Amino acid sequence: MATKAQIPREAVDRQRAVMERIRRHHAGLGRSPAAFVDTYGCQQNESDSEKLRGMLLEMGYRFTDKEEDADVIVINTCAVREHAELRVYGNIGALVHTKRKNPEQIIAVCGCMVQQPQAAEKIRRSFRHVDLVFGPHALWRFPEFLENLLMERGRIFAVEEEEGSIAEGLPVSRSGGVKAWLSVMYGCNNFCSYCIVPHVRGRERSRSPQVILDEARQLISEGYKDITLLGQNVNSYGKDLDEDVDFADILRSVSNLEGEFLVRFMTSHPKDASDKLFQTMAACGKVARHLHLPFQAGSDRILRAMNRGYTQAQYLSLVETARRYMPDIVLTSDVIVGFPGETAEDFEKTMEVLRQARFDALFTFIYSKRTGTPAADLPDPVPREEKQRWFDALVALQNDISAEKHAMYVGKTLRVLVDGESGDVRYPLSARTNGGRLVHLAGDKALIGRYIDVTITGSSTWSLFAEAASQ
Ligand code: SAH
Ligand code: SF4
Ligand code: F3S
Repeated sequence: MATKAQIPREAVDRQRAVMERIRRHHAGLGRSPAAFVDTYGCQQNESDSEKLRGMLLEMGYRFTDKEEDADVIVINTCAVREHAELRVYGNIGALVHTKRKNPEQIIAVCGCMVQQPQAAEKIRRSFRHVDLVFGPHALWRFPEFLENLLMERGRIFAVEEEEGSIAEGLPVSRSGGVKAWLSVMYGCNNFCSYCIVPHVRGRERSRSPQVILDEARQLISEGYKDITLLGQNVNSYGKDLDEDVDFADILRSVSNLEGEFLVRFMTSHPKDASDKLFQTMAACGKVARHLHLPFQAGSDRILRAMNRGYTQAQYLSLVETARRYMPDIVLTSDVIVGFPGETAEDFEKTMEVLRQARFDALFTFIYSKRTGTPAADLPDPVPREEKQRWFDALVALQNDISAEKHAMYVGKTLRVLVDGESGDVRYPLSARTNGGRLVHLAGDKALIGRYIDVTITGSSTWSLFAEAASQ
């Protein structure tokens, strides 16, 4: 059953026909053109880039990692913090040189950053070598844009504001080895006051359960062993569907599929992480014992100003519930330091959360002002150096906790998924525990792609070290 937000099948089929025309066009010229794809930002963007690559492959492109060799360059951007945007502008600025050498080159900039009107305008005016600009809502129309540019040069801007839609049936070229992303929903309705994501990714819309399960089945049959269900807040899954289904139901159904794999998910918003979710995780053997539950701040006053919808006490009680169901759960989180108006006293409450929740790992950010969000209009008197001092204290505390937690693994035997090479001579393989901790592993390359038992021999702040146990 198609969901309300779904792009009609005929419209997606039209893009497929365009892809076929472009493929024949290249074949007719007797050449195999090259594409360069660069991705910034979160897993959602990684997943979008897998679709862009899937479309490019279908259109007869091969991939290069050198911008100067590419016939088409696609830069898939992120807008979540200023730093990400500055890197993008720096890198697109540098493409002037490759374009000068190869005036036929097509340069496309897509993703969250260009869905902001001021960013699209800046590219229009100041980055004249960029030919194509399209936001996340228009991603599925990439073949059509490319065809227009191949047939008649010019510039295309497809950045209209939209609620957002779902395009099923586009090709995907995955690049994560035995790990795969699987989007369950798109967009966000939470409007945390600091965050640009809902402004650029549109409203929440859920993919149909059948489509998700079919894709999961397909991934498992292709040999993927670690599937991450993706959404900005997976706990909102299903609210927009006619069917009575929630995220815990989807998680259970995926976990019940045949095969050797684990399923995990990101991200959960604490305001609607339910008891049912934790119960389901605990009851389902193939659901990874990993919970990423961003808390953002420890002060109730700041949490309110952030529009997060919970208090410090509610957050800590959720953590307690999760650990009651799953004592071995690996807990990770996100936190922002220096939200406008945060005081030293507020910040101390954030430190308190670290001491009490004892996260296995933490993603730490200094607040970045995003034009168009409500927090951008708040007075922000604390100087950057002061925020940096808080940030450093936070990181130091978390590093101690992470190191202590990792040290507790030493001597244990665990099942891990060997997912690639590490580049380290003594521990040439990299692997992940069920809870998602990074393991540097001594062993043979032939183990890549397999679940094996290992003995943990050492640990650091960020990872574990191990040897293959006698199998
Ligand atoms: N949907 C996810 C997070 C998406 S953005 C969630 O709600 O958990 C990833 C992280 O970036 C956020 O959790 C937050 O910690 C951080 N972030 C978002 N906007 C930010 C901003 N303006 N400044 C600093 N960090 C920000
Ligand atoms: Fe941003 Fe909040 Fe939505 Fe996460 S839940 S994407 S932080 S608005
Ligand atoms: Fe992700 Fe960045 Fe967009 S974090 S949703 S790519 S703004």
